[in-house]
Amino acid sequence: MMKARQIEKQLLVPYQHRVYFTQDVFEPENTLLASLLTESTEGEATRVYVAVDEQLREHDSAFQDKVHAYFNNFREKIDCCGYSEYPGGEILKNDLRYLKDLYHEIEQAKLCRHSYLIGIGGGALLDMTGFAAATAHRGIRHLRLPTTSLSQGDGGVGVKNGVNYLGKKNFIGTFMPPHAVVNDLNFLKTLSNNQMRDGYIEAVKVALIRDGAFFDLIESRAELLINRDPDTISWIIEKSAQHHVDHIAQSGDPFELKSARPLDFGHWVAHKLETMSAFKISHGEAVAIGMAVDVLYSQKIGHLAKKQASRIINLIEQLGFKTYSPELLTVSEQGRNLILEGLDEFREHLGGQLTISLLNDIGDSFETHEMIPKVILECIEGLRDRNASRPHPES
Ligand SMILES: NC(=O)c1ccc[n+]([C@@H]2O[C@H](COP(=O)([O-])OP(=O)(O)OC[C@H]3O[C@@H](n4cnc5c(N)ncnc54)[C@H](O)[C@@H]3O)[C@@H](O)[C@H]2O)c1
Ligand SMILES: [Zn+2]
Repeated sequence: MMKARQIEKQLLVPYQHRVYFTQDVFEPENTLLASLLTESTEGEATRVYVAVDEQLREHDSAFQDKVHAYFNNFREKIDCCGYSEYPGGEILKNDLRYLKDLYHEIEQAKLCRHSYLIGIGGGALLDMTGFAAATAHRGIRHLRLPTTSLSQGDGGVGVKNGVNYLGKKNFIGTFMPPHAVVNDLNFLKTLSNNQMRDGYIEAVKVALIRDGAFFDLIESRAELLINRDPDTISWIIEKSAQHHVDHIAQSGDPFELKSARPLDFGHWVAHKLETMSAFKISHGEAVAIGMAVDVLYSQKIGHLAKKQASRIINLIEQLGFKTYSPELLTVSEQGRNLILEGLDEFREHLGGQLTISLLNDIGDSFETHEMIPKVILECIEGLRDRNASRPHPES
């Protein structure tokens, strides 16, 4: 047999992942955004296109004017060459017309690899605009301004983007660290209480898998969070973002090539629930239920102490979440519980061996490669009975 010849080189592409915390990002005296956009400007003004979640104008009719006025102050260095609005929420990732529209805008605005596409909105808008930026011209610089608690503490500070396709969440997407993330806490003021708590649950998640002391503090500050105390919100978002970024940077697997996904604790149930409910159940609400299932499962298989499991479920409920939804017991015509298909879909989406994170203790997770369907169903039935006997929180 002829010997194969080979050329082999290592390609190293360093990324700097930066997350800033500020307030009033579009006030003229706040130069953070302008400096991020001009740090590598040579000669001509940098071209910048802004894509915005339309809810921002719903809550502040002068929002677009503010953005234009801000960039106008720096017009010698920044050319704001376009602005468009998109609906927020999962519709934006489900209907690819919006993505196509944005590609057209990018082409019309003559953006290039040295230009910036700024996304301002919730996780859905950031995922869609991030995907457009990563793929148009094989990569335009992307700057993210997350405007929900969930995206400021979790989704928006990560390195993934994507849209839904073939009925599957994030079926099309890339790993592409943004140029920078700028968290302006003032955006959160217009969120409803239910939208606000969605960010809290991802903080609880990251505390459960990484940091028991953080969990204790969230537990002791739950009332402050429910009452939307600004300092406590600022604290939980920043701490959650810090943990997410630390995990991405320090786990040795920022682009998720291996099988372990601790940040997806509770998410195998959550993703399936979101799809089964046609996204009527929000991501945060689904994660709350998914974590409750995996917490009880961790207890039932003898890893997590009953006292700790109760503390976790109580905190989830205290923050206003339900820990059960009837979709959990939906059965197909063939008699199979549909939520269990979530396990197969999770494995299929991530590739490799099924790897689910469970808890030994609060702040201490471990990985399993097998979950026992009978035990999962017992956990779900336990949550059903618990929720039937307690008054429902507002939903
Ligand atoms: N890329 C990742 O790593 C990652 C991680 C977690 C979640 N996500 C994705 O993020 C999405 C969920 O993001 P989300 O929870 O931010 O919700 P979202 O983007 O769906 O927004 C929820 C709602 O809030 C509105 N909204 C946004 N900002 C607002 C503001 N300041 N005031 C009032 N309303 C506002 C939106 O218009 C929308 O109606 C999901 O698609 C999820 O898959 C991505
Ligand atoms: Zn999540």
